[in-house]
Amino acid sequence: MPSLTRPPGPRKKPLWGDLWNFRRDPIKFLTEAGSYGDIVFLKLGNQDIYLLNHPDFIKEVLVNQPRSFHKGRGLQRSKRLLGEGLLTSEEDFHKRQRRLVQPAFHRQRIANYAKVMVDYAVRSRESWQAGTTISIGEEMMRLTLGIVAKTLFDADVEKDADELGEAMSVFVKSFDFLTLPFVEILEKLPFPRVRAFNNARDLLDKTIYRIINERRAKGEDIGDLMSMLLIAQDEEGDGKGMSDLQIRDEVMTLFIAGHETTANALTWTWYLLSQHPKVEARVWQEIDQVLEGHLPTAGDYPNLRYLEMVLSESMRLYPPAWVIGRRVVKECQVGGYTLPINSIAFMSQYLMHHDKRYFPEPDKFDPERWTVEAREKRPKYSYFPFGGGIRQCIGEPYAWMEGVLLLATIAQKWKLSLAPGSKVEVQPMITLRTKNDIPMIVSLRPKY
Ligand code: HEM
Repeated sequence: MPSLTRPPGPRKKPLWGDLWNFRRDPIKFLTEAGSYGDIVFLKLGNQDIYLLNHPDFIKEVLVNQPRSFHKGRGLQRSKRLLGEGLLTSEEDFHKRQRRLVQPAFHRQRIANYAKVMVDYAVRSRESWQAGTTISIGEEMMRLTLGIVAKTLFDADVEKDADELGEAMSVFVKSFDFLTLPFVEILEKLPFPRVRAFNNARDLLDKTIYRIINERRAKGEDIGDLMSMLLIAQDEEGDGKGMSDLQIRDEVMTLFIAGHETTANALTWTWYLLSQHPKVEARVWQEIDQVLEGHLPTAGDYPNLRYLEMVLSESMRLYPPAWVIGRRVVKECQVGGYTLPINSIAFMSQYLMHHDKRYFPEPDKFDPERWTVEAREKRPKYSYFPFGGGIRQCIGEPYAWMEGVLLLATIAQKWKLSLAPGSKVEVQPMITLRTKNDIPMIVSLRPKY
């Protein structure tokens, strides 16, 4: 029988509850809250929160009972950007869209994107010079943005340093602002930032609709993601395809969801490698053994196992998506407690990935945690950088391929060292970023 009492949690504070503590340092706050147990009750403002701090409870929400939950309010707000795309839509509409978009992420299709990934990484690496300092976060963001634009709709934003590239970066930079509470009021005020966002959205919309029209008129598959979205028909449902508006929403969604997370993962990985010379040396050895001096291809990806372990460990320590929130839409039981309608379930990758029960010495960077044997010993949802269940990241195979190939292409040539005196801190926004960009010195790496 489910208990009628609430789970334990920090003592209730008057008025705003723990909202300010949460806003000031969400990771510290949630980590402290997590010490109350596997399921914890919190009050943020007048919102009831259930922090689920055990892999089985996370699985319960994401995999066993997903229909009792909808996405949280932040994501609902981002509908003004993303419309009813995969990230924001719910229930049957989401299910149908997922069926329609899924083929674009078929393994064979992703293998075709590998060439774009490596070409763009080569462009970046050849633009750097030994002895110079680069801002690694900016470089990774520019690189993954270029790749997603190219694979999505064959647009070359890097080369066209024109209106479209500018509109995209304004749009991306506005994303955090436009998911803030009270944005409905803020966006009516004449802030230059709001005006810039609206102009950027209009320009992007115009461009995406123009591309959709041209493609529909031509009617051929030119190999990018948009071609797949245009071809897709819902065989299991009404047999029809997507309207222009639906395609626009999915393209925007993939564009936004498809680059910052990967850029953050790579930025953290370069930082970690620069601090762990033995791991760095093994990375170079694997690259040399597998690639024998050639550029990496999709076919090399399964053989770059150590790089994949490094990336896994980097996303354990610094999960780009660090918390998932869900609003309860149907009363349900989790961990012996009743979660009432409109309460929020929080599941934090950051907390789980740093939990001593599954990752002893959790702050230690150790790619050996990712051997097949070590993985098998841990419960599944102790590690969930890509979420799980029906809302699991659709781009996960794309992200692994991109992460590993970009690391391989760049580390094939360069060693990246942290510039002396740099301070590296986390900043948990929608994604887990570095607080300040990390300056790194580029030098030719030793050969093995
Ligand atoms: C390291 C890189 C990435 C990480 C860590 C990541 C993480 C996530 C997570 C945690 C979710 C689930 C959110 C939730 O359940 O509330 C998600 C969903 C999603 N991601 Fe990713 N992602 C990454 C890369 C990508 C890429 C490259 C794409 C597309 C090209 C993408 C597209 C999406 C989409 C469309 C969804 C919504 C899926 C749905 O609800 O059906 N992501 N991602």
